[in-house]
Amino acid sequence: MNKIISFLVFHIFIFTTTQSLLSAASGTIHDSGGTKLLRGIPYYILPLLRSSGGGLTLTRNTKDACPLNVTQESFEVNYGSPFTFTPIVLDEEIIRGAYPVSIEADVTNPCHGSNIWKVTTAAAAKDDDNDELLTNNKDKKKKEDDKGVPVHSVTTGGEFNKPESCFQIVEDDVMPGLRSYQIQHCPFKCGSQSTDLACYNVGIVRDADGKGYLGRTDAIYPVVFMNCLGTFSQSVKISRLSAE
Ligand SMILES: *[C@@H]1O[C@H](CO)[C@@H](O)[C@H](O)[C@H]1NC(C)=O
Repeated sequence: MNKIISFLVFHIFIFTTTQSLLSAASGTIHDSGGTKLLRGIPYYILPLLRSSGGGLTLTRNTKDACPLNVTQESFEVNYGSPFTFTPIVLDEEIIRGAYPVSIEADVTNPCHGSNIWKVTTAAAAKDDDNDELLTNNKDKKKKEDDKGVPVHSVTTGGEFNKPESCFQIVEDDVMPGLRSYQIQHCPFKCGSQSTDLACYNVGIVRDADGKGYLGRTDAIYPVVFMNCLGTFSQSVKISRLSAE
């Protein structure tokens, strides 16, 4: 019950403050321990509001399906998979706000493609134009196929510095005093030919079964980045990494 209430309160809060959010775009990004977010270091990506589920992870519906879907762990105790961030344009160790980054899963990849995030295009999604033509039977089938998974969902298999794999992190002020961030998809920052100079929020969209898929959404989805190696000082973290 408490969770439901805090969830509702959170949503009311979001909708009343969306206008003022995402204004403080630039600056350095920090992890949940207050350390600068660094290139190549594995982080868990967790929702700011822990009662809304666990961290981001990778899933496949069937044994051989590829590329993998980026989804949310159902239970808040599960942190999910580690992800790394790489600046696309700047050759820097720190991840800056509002600069294009590549986001990659730091796991053994069961697919042929890369572990780099990409946003699937509308063309790849099922067509929704035939709704009126559906008979009852087909309707039922369609309902099973189309469970509300976002059209622009995030999967692995992307390519570095391509519009579909171009993300940025911006600071939000959902909870003053807590550093939380919004991940956005910004095709134009990685050479998209389109005249669309927009960035799109990336957040969790739930299907009919309640499973959370990462995808483009109008809502905000505040996240925090938790260093998978714990809260060591920077130098310790780096030497631990290179020793592995
Ligand atoms: C990803 O999710 C979509 C929608 O549920 C599904 O069609 C596809 O098979 C999933 N991919 C994997 C690798 O399971």
